[in-house]
Amino acid sequence: MSQKRRIIIDTDPGQDDAVAIMLALGSPELEVTGITAVAGNVPLKLTEKNARKICELAGRPEIKVYAGAVRPLMRHLVTAEEVHGKTGLNGPELPEPRMKLQDEHAVDFIVRTLMHEESGTITLCPLGPLTNIALALIREPKIAPRIKEIVLMGGGFFEGGNVTPAAEFNIYVDPHAADIVLRSGVPIVMMPLDVTHKALTSAKRTQAIRALGTRVGEATAQMLEFFERFDEEKYGTDGGPLHDPCVIAYLLKPDLFKGRSCNVTVETASELTMGMTVIDWWGVTKRPKNALVMRHIDSDGFFALLTERLGRL
Ligand code: BDR
Ligand code: CA
Repeated sequence: MSQKRRIIIDTDPGQDDAVAIMLALGSPELEVTGITAVAGNVPLKLTEKNARKICELAGRPEIKVYAGAVRPLMRHLVTAEEVHGKTGLNGPELPEPRMKLQDEHAVDFIVRTLMHEESGTITLCPLGPLTNIALALIREPKIAPRIKEIVLMGGGFFEGGNVTPAAEFNIYVDPHAADIVLRSGVPIVMMPLDVTHKALTSAKRTQAIRALGTRVGEATAQMLEFFERFDEEKYGTDGGPLHDPCVIAYLLKPDLFKGRSCNVTVETASELTMGMTVIDWWGVTKRPKNALVMRHIDSDGFFALLTERLGRL
């Protein structure tokens, strides 16, 4: 097999983050160099613990998990327990993790890895607010040209927002961090709500995951059943959007997605539209293109890939 693609997953688990982590760990094409936790769906104390729980569920306790920022750069932390539950990972009963949290700070780990590994070999996969990534770029600007790519879940345009009419959660929580990342000059692939709202966990798809008959399959089905109830009611759909695994699926099968390169700018001033991603889809400004923005997904292909890879754990 050709060389594995090396990734750092920056995350705030969250059930959909958890599924993304398991999709990566079940995929032989990827090497998870480390997992960095950030405050988002729930506070950092829970997100770092949840990341460790998921590594253990996946049978991979040797994966290194680092804790990062406890709050956004400029704003108070906004969390999403109404979606993810009190622990962030409500649904299955998962044991307290036995694996240790690393002593090194997540931001130091990101900087150290990018400075020491061969340039252009590490891809960053942010699945939560972009605080850790922005802090790393500020701490050591020399990392920017060394990052192969940032593939992130965040934003929305045609679909609007999910936490305010204008803003998607990850960008809303730390819009200043998102602004820093989007201006970094690093190649960015963005999975906005326009894509993830088409990746719906229908009863049939969740049943296919449960039918794997494994501990991972059952725990994932329980996570999805808890997670989807909020959005099913909100949007009137069968199933909820499985946001974060879209990032990992893109690394494995980019052809599942279609989009175009655009200029993307983040609102950081107006309270009304705070965290809105203004995506110049039609090229009406002459602002430089800074992100490949996805808009379409082959959702059957996505769930087939996900189910098959979860089955390997
Ligand atoms: C994003 O917000 C979080 O609740 C999810 O984990 C996902 O990363 C979707 O807006
Ligand atoms: Ca997330």
